[in-house]
Amino acid sequence: MRFLSGIRPTNLLHIGNYFGAMRQFVEFQKEHDGFVMIADLHALDTETDATRLHQNILTLTATYLAVGLDAQKNILFLQSSVPEHTELAHIFSALVRMSELERMTQYKDKAKARNENVPVALFTYPLLMAADILMYEPDIVPVGDDQTQHVEMTRDIAERFNRHYGETFRVPKLHLTKVGARVMGLDDPTKKMSKSAASAKNYIALTDDNNTIRKKIMSAVTDSNGIVAYADDQPGIRNLIDMMHLATGTTVEKIAASYDGKGYGDLKRDVAEAVVAFVEPLRTGIVDRLKDKTTLAETIKEGSNRARALATKKMESVRKAVGIFA
Ligand code: ADP
Ligand code: TRP
Repeated sequence: MRFLSGIRPTNLLHIGNYFGAMRQFVEFQKEHDGFVMIADLHALDTETDATRLHQNILTLTATYLAVGLDAQKNILFLQSSVPEHTELAHIFSALVRMSELERMTQYKDKAKARNENVPVALFTYPLLMAADILMYEPDIVPVGDDQTQHVEMTRDIAERFNRHYGETFRVPKLHLTKVGARVMGLDDPTKKMSKSAASAKNYIALTDDNNTIRKKIMSAVTDSNGIVAYADDQPGIRNLIDMMHLATGTTVEKIAASYDGKGYGDLKRDVAEAVVAFVEPLRTGIVDRLKDKTTLAETIKEGSNRARALATKKMESVRKAVGIFA
């Protein structure tokens, strides 16, 4: 079996990215062939500072390696180093209606947040994502639940293309994790933790130092109920319990029960220490790898060459299928 996924090199990676995405990649590599992408073209609508984008690409690469992804076993590559993705996205743009893209929840949310200032790239985002995926014929696409709609659209595009032009693409399956699929923001537990959040208090970055982590968790938004319970109407407490579960592996029921008679302060202190213990070795691994940028750049190049060899071949069959000359 083959899996493929990617993360955009925007801002700082946080524990939501780890639990919702990266941890699964590390699990999957044990049994599957992995394609793990740095989605830098997808980052351009968000990160317009060239120096920062470049640095983010290196940091994401260092993070992939620090969390335990094996660059030999998997194909770890940079989206922009395989220009065939944009060609395929263009071919898909002829098969998809504007109204379908207009219905994408992420587009609607992001467009609203930007008022009138909506880049075209935000609108065509799902086409490029479909190209990223279908190019390599993965069986599964592990992502956080905010990406469900995009993977479904990818499946639709594959089916539509195959019906019209003949069997060309494998229709991949979505893979979601249950708990941890969505870590919520510390400053607003009704919305997902996001690296593009307005406040740094929203997330725990994988590069946050121990005291920053403690401060952020101690100031996490909760409620005035006062009783520690894993309940839908207590999203802040629920999120803290989820984070403890993710960092330690203890079930949420056990965690909730162990705070019987205790207060939010006790819970927060313990969650902070659990998250510190979890993040510290990751942070050290990232910082160490960032000291050797040449090796990081070589790792990206080597993986991208492997990906490009496959994409070149795939595009030959796609061009033939649609009737254009190769
Ligand atoms: P962000 O929304 O923070 O900018 P991305 O959209 O680049 O992050 O997401 C990268 C990956 O991490 C995706 O697979 C996404 O589903 C996952 N992810 C992002 N935020 C979270 C979260 N809060 N909880 C779980 N997974 C998340
Ligand atoms: N859209 C994904 C996100 O925001 C990133 C991404 C780009 C991706 N291309 C992909 C994920 C292909 C899985 C497969 O997180």
